[in-house]
Amino acid sequence: MYLGIDMGTSGIKAMLVDERFETVAVAHAALDVSRPHSGWSEQAPADWIAATETVLDSLRASHGEALATLRGIGLSGHMHGATLLDASDAVLRPCILWNDGRSGAQCETLTARADFHGIAGNLVMAGFTAPKLLWVAENEPEIFAKTAKVLLPKDYLRLWLTGEHVSEMSDAAGTLWLDTGRRDWSDTLLEATGLTRDHMPALVEGSDVSGHLRKDLAERWGVAQVPVAGGAGDNAATACGMGVMRPGTGFLSLGTSGVLFAASDRYQPNTGDAVHTFCHAVPETWHQMGVILSASDSMSWLSEITGRGVPELAALVPERVEAPARVTFLPYLSGERTPLNDPGAAGAFVGLRRDVALPEMVQAVMEGVAMAFADSVRVLRKAGTPIEAAFAVGGGARSRAWLTLCASITGLRLLVPKDGDFGAAFGAAKLAAAAATGETGDAIFAQPEVGEEILPDTDLREAYAKKYDAYMRGYPAVKSLEF
Ligand code: XUL
Repeated sequence: MYLGIDMGTSGIKAMLVDERFETVAVAHAALDVSRPHSGWSEQAPADWIAATETVLDSLRASHGEALATLRGIGLSGHMHGATLLDASDAVLRPCILWNDGRSGAQCETLTARADFHGIAGNLVMAGFTAPKLLWVAENEPEIFAKTAKVLLPKDYLRLWLTGEHVSEMSDAAGTLWLDTGRRDWSDTLLEATGLTRDHMPALVEGSDVSGHLRKDLAERWGVAQVPVAGGAGDNAATACGMGVMRPGTGFLSLGTSGVLFAASDRYQPNTGDAVHTFCHAVPETWHQMGVILSASDSMSWLSEITGRGVPELAALVPERVEAPARVTFLPYLSGERTPLNDPGAAGAFVGLRRDVALPEMVQAVMEGVAMAFADSVRVLRKAGTPIEAAFAVGGGARSRAWLTLCASITGLRLLVPKDGDFGAAFGAAKLAAAAATGETGDAIFAQPEVGEEILPDTDLREAYAKKYDAYMRGYPAVKSLEF
């Protein structure tokens, strides 16, 4: 048995799989995000531990016998979060998350201080870890002074599980302190943020062993002190679950964030249009992605303000719509990364009329997120990474209507796996197997069987091309209003 633990923004998911990667059990526990100020997004690291205890205790209770044959654990988690620890590993403040936009000004300072673009291979974007640390240095100097270690969210969970300060390449690349081509911390970039290598955890590849489960936890869950793999940031972990490891393969994820991910066998940075270039979770591989900050989160927002559940809202849109909604939605509820790199970007509904009802608003939200994906397809293409087809994953991919809109608006063929759950927890379980067996080939990272291909609706192609033109003009127009 292998166990994958994914720390998502909205909850912890643990997945137990057997040696053939068939699912044996899954357990969840919800997590909250706190937004103490507009544009802020934080989580308490203690909640991650409590949620992990809940899922593991419940797996022990429901599948204790299977768990007893565990051979390895893999970790995955939301990227970029800044978890600050003092010299005794006590948490100094809530973790500042990937969709937190407070550090826009610090991005400019860091860009001027060192060659982040050349060394890290990415634009300095709010949400990445480095500008958050500069924000803490400038706004909470007493906390910055006490900071002895900076850990990414899943690496804090690893500290609790194993007692080790370790990260791995895919998540480390999202800090902006990694020399992404050389796969090592950059002293220059750390120094530009007022930090040194001592503040950083040790680095391993995602498919390597990072440590072993602590004795007390092993006893509590009735398992051996199994190896814990390096694991991966949630996007690279999802790629591992879908066998997206080589050039020409990719996925589109409709999660809280939206991600268009393409694997590559070379380090090909392209900071234009806020394309992300990170290490993959196995040696000598990298990947590029476009990241949308509010994908299914846009639907969660609509659900919150209408008081209707997301599935109920999604069911209001037919599987094949007859025409584009008359309303255009800009999904920049938490600012935007690709292609705008603007933490201050605001969302909008444009084109409201008296006879616009909720179903059309829901369709507009789905279309707006699909248009944001079309932006990512466009800029990845411009960066020399053409994508024609992608696996569809994430909670939002359960809506056939939304997937069809994504296909029609991006022009991508979307591949829906036959059955099963191939998300980040599954990928983390595969990395556990890689670490436990030393294998990193196709035997572990196989692609799932395609159950269905969702093709663009050619009848709507022209109408959506027109709407996409209008959508692209929406951001500068709304920005010029300076709300
Ligand atoms: C990637 C990113 C998000 C988070 C949350 O750069 O910020 O996808 O990893 O899932």
